[in-house]
Parts: sequence; C-alpha cells; structure tokens
Amino acid sequence: KDIEFSLDAIELNGYEHYMLKEIFEQPTALSTCLGGRIDTVNNKIVLGGIANLTRELTRAKKFIITSCGTAWHAGLIGEYLIEQIARIPVEVEYASELRYRNPIIEDGTFVIAISQSGETADTLAAIEMCKERGAVVMGAVNVVGSTIARTTDCGVYLRVGPEIGVASTKAFTAQVAVLTMLAIELGRRKHVGPAQTAAYLKELQAVPGKIASVLNMAEHIKQIAIEYSAENNWLFMGRGLNYPVALEGALKLKEISYIHAEGLPAAEMKHGPIALISKGTPAVFVATRGSQYEKIIGNIEEVRARGGKTIVVATQGDDEIKRCADHVIYVPDTIEEMQPMVNIVPLQILAYYAAVHRGYDVDKPRNLAKSVTVE
Ligand code: G6P
Repeated sequence: KDIEFSLDAIELNGYEHYMLKEIFEQPTALSTCLGGRIDTVNNKIVLGGIANLTRELTRAKKFIITSCGTAWHAGLIGEYLIEQIARIPVEVEYASELRYRNPIIEDGTFVIAISQSGETADTLAAIEMCKERGAVVMGAVNVVGSTIARTTDCGVYLRVGPEIGVASTKAFTAQVAVLTMLAIELGRRKHVGPAQTAAYLKELQAVPGKIASVLNMAEHIKQIAIEYSAENNWLFMGRGLNYPVALEGALKLKEISYIHAEGLPAAEMKHGPIALISKGTPAVFVATRGSQYEKIIGNIEEVRARGGKTIVVATQGDDEIKRCADHVIYVPDTIEEMQPMVNIVPLQILAYYAAVHRGYDVDKPRNLAKSVTVE
C-alpha cells in the first residue's frame, strides 16, 4: 500500500489528480503525437504506420469511423475534417451499433477504428465484423500492442503515454490530431495545393503552444466552474466542428461531476432542448470565430433572453461577444479545422473543477471503467 502511495506521488508529479495532470500534459503529449509526422521540408504528413496503404486510403470511396465514448466524439470531428479537406464521404458509427447493423461494405470502403485503450469490446467486435466483410481497417490507438492495435491492418499510434484518469483528455486531443493529419495528407494527395498544405502544417504545429496558453486560464475557468457547480442541468452547444466539441464537453461534465449535461448542435436547441432553459441554467457555447459565428451569436442571445447563464468559449480579441456572454473564456485563434483541439481544453478544465468542487473522485468516477472489455 505504502509503495502504491509513493508511486502515485511520483506519477502525479505534484498534481492533485491524474486527470488534471493529463489535461496539463496536452501540449507535450500533442507535440509527441505530431513529432516527426509533420514534414515541412517536403510539405507533407508522414504516417509510418499506414505508409503501405496510403495510396489505397487516398482512393477510398467511403470511410466508416467507429468507436465508443470520447473516441466517438473524435470520430465526429474526423468526419467533418475528412469530408472538408479530403472530400471523401465519411460515416461515424458507435461500435456497439455498427457491430449489429449489417453495414454496407463495398470496394473502396475503409474503416477507421479509434480507441485509447485498444481493448474496448464493442470496438473490437465491430472491427472483426468489418474485416470479415472485406474491409481494410485502420486503427488510431494509444496503447501499443493492444488487441485493437494488433487486429487492425494498419494504424497510427496516438503516442500520448499512459492515460490513467477515467475521463479521457489527452487521448482525445491526440485522436483529433491523428484524424487531422490523415485528412490533410489524403487531401494533399488528391487536390489540396502546396500553399494550402503548408498553411495546414504551420497551424497544426502551432496547436500545442495554443493549448498551453489555454492552460494559463485555468484559474479563471475554475471560478466559473465553482460558481455553477451546484446547478444540476447544463447545456453545451456548438455548430460545425464545434458541435462534437460541445458533445465532448458535456460528456466530461457528466462523467466526473454527475451533473446532467446535454450537448447539441446550437440550432437544434429550438426543436426541444430550449424548453430546459430557465433562470440560471448554465449554457456553455463554443463560439470561436469561424464560418458559423454570426449564427451562434443568435443562439446565445436566445438563451440569454430566457434567463439562461451563458458561458462562452470565444476567440481572443472578440470583445463584442461580451454583450451576450455572462462569462467569456478566451482561446487563441487558429484556422477553423484546428480549432477543436484548442476549444476542448477549457471544457475539460471546467468539468474537472466542477467535479472537484462537488467533492468527487475525478480519477475514479462511479459506475465507469477506463477500459470497457465487456459488451
Ligand atoms: C470508456 C471510457 C471512456 C472512453 C470509452 C472508449 O467508456 O471511460 O473514456 O472514451 O470507454 O474507450 P477507448 O479505450 O476505446 O477509447
């Protein structure tokens, strides 16, 4: 027992919880994930684990991304990115659904399985079923040598080191980074020109530094978390690439603070969830500048008009947003495609401090397991 304690002390490296440590590790973890894979000299992405199949992947007619939980949210971001940058159709399926769905796998259908642990039973079963039907499966896995890593035909490791906290944080940003790299490289091989490719690579390289500057805001975010931690219903909203970020933000809060939180695309609010808003309901908006910025401002105002409290993740320098926000969390600007990796970080911090303030063990939340190896 004593030995366990001291091991923990070493591993925690001064942090109160693994989750907090892992949130703060993200700049270095992401740098390791990207390290050696961004080739600025030749203006391309190099992913050794899929090198043998990159030509086939470039010619893919369809991708099916499959995963569970947080990894499924990363998959949704991957869908937007691969469709937007590489112009290849993507479906994202919960592995637990895909495995029983009799999916349509034709020539040119490739499967991408995402998993931190590499041991999730549903994800593994979905992979095996797709392989039986002739699909080539690529993995995006963290744990080296895990079952999923061994079962897939090719793959890209996340390289973020062990993730101990049950609520996934650094693995998520790395999953998104891997999918971003894949989208850029497939796009480059298809139609994205050298100038645009160079711009993507430059922005991608800058993401770890931008995450580091979000971490400097932790104290401000903590105060917001404390102020609303007694509220039992929260909404998280975003549009476009920020919609899956909102889903992931809501999941983080649910998992560790046991607060009911719903993530949704901001425009869907009017089809039901807006009925949940009453005086004081916390509504978190991910509203960084991008193609749907004006639209989401409208959504924020609708919540405000109904007495909701608006907590807004916004782009540094956006002073106007203060008019409709009760609280603003500023994050550095990047191109829209890279913004999810930056925008999720304040939501991880928000969930962490809400849970700590409520007195829960964030590293071992009730009813949850880090790795779900049963169906
Ligand atoms: C569990 C974990 C989640 C994780 C999900 C998928 O539910 O608690 O944090 O997102 O499994 O796990 P995987 O290891 O496949 O990414």
